[in-house]
Amino acid sequence: MKNNYSILTGITPSGSGEVHIGNYLGAVVPFLELQKKADKVYFFIADLHALTTVQNKEEMQRNVENLVLSYLAFGIDTEKVVFYRQSDIPQHTELQSILNNVTPLSLIKRAHAYKDKLQKGADPEEINMGLFSYPVLMAADILLYDPDYVPVGDDQKQHIEITRDIAGFFNKTFGEIFILPDIYNMKESARLVGTYVKRKMSKSLHNYIAVFADEKVIRKQVMSCFTDPNRKKVTDPGQVEGNPVFTYHRLLNDNKEEVADLEKRYTEGSVADVEVKEKLLQAILLKFKKERELYNELKEHPDKIKNILKEGAEKARTQAVKKMIEVREKIGITNKYSQFTY
Ligand code: TYM
Repeated sequence: MKNNYSILTGITPSGSGEVHIGNYLGAVVPFLELQKKADKVYFFIADLHALTTVQNKEEMQRNVENLVLSYLAFGIDTEKVVFYRQSDIPQHTELQSILNNVTPLSLIKRAHAYKDKLQKGADPEEINMGLFSYPVLMAADILLYDPDYVPVGDDQKQHIEITRDIAGFFNKTFGEIFILPDIYNMKESARLVGTYVKRKMSKSLHNYIAVFADEKVIRKQVMSCFTDPNRKKVTDPGQVEGNPVFTYHRLLNDNKEEVADLEKRYTEGSVADVEVKEKLLQAILLKFKKERELYNELKEHPDKIKNILKEGAEKARTQAVKKMIEVREKIGITNKYSQFTY
């Protein structure tokens, strides 16, 4: 890694807009670490990306609020981090529309988000253009700010590769202007498995454990978690490896002795699934106790939150405008007749 570097990352307020333990391990933890080390840090709520699936006013409003409060409660350092909403910076969509022109269709057709939808049986003619051009908006989100690294989980890796490709095409066509960012991720928790299907934990698959939901909700999520499918009775020896309940215990339960004891008893067939899950629930509630309290406290102060986002947007816009002036120059839109200013 370089000595002086900048980072940028974002999260989409899709699904219920809740942060789940997959986001926490794959994105929040590395982010909190990196925000201390990096020289410049950008973090934003990708609300325009959420529009591909969230098409209901109240849902969008609630989801954005959930995410903003969650990240503040996790301890995003707003003195240092430029924290903003994507929709507050119109240059993201402006750049997207320019990048569309150097992006080959074949590149986008290979993108996971689009391919996943097709795999689930969607008619290619029906997929919305927002989803199709999702990676181009993501490239714009990134390239406006020249970050050296983009910390994301494994599932977003391909999008960063596409961003690099798009930046390369632009640079080749119009001259060097964009820095090709590198992905940064924490390998071991880069793709946390979901609670009931052998897919990654994801808001849209509803196979997640939320961090800030009511205890009742989290209990239900934990209790419905998939375990060893071959274990019928408590006395059957159980499989710990590949068992999501134990994966979560290992990653989130700070009482390592308890985890070792549960693993031993599970393997020999002397502990019930329900006890393992109850202990997981308690471990999760304990791990996020402080954050959960802060979340509820922050919720009472909307003006304070609005101010934080306003300051973030102003700083982000300064950088985005600077970059867009260069882009307009490079592509020849700026000429002797131009009068446009931001
Ligand atoms: P999103 O909202 O799906 O996820 C936010 C972050 O959480 C990580 N993540 C996971 N990590 C480990 N295990 C999982 N099961 C898991 N699920 C999600 C994601 O990798 C991500 O780091 N398109 C992006 C948001 C975005 C963005 C950007 C990110 C828009 N523009 C520009 C970086 C740079 C997304 O939907 O992330």
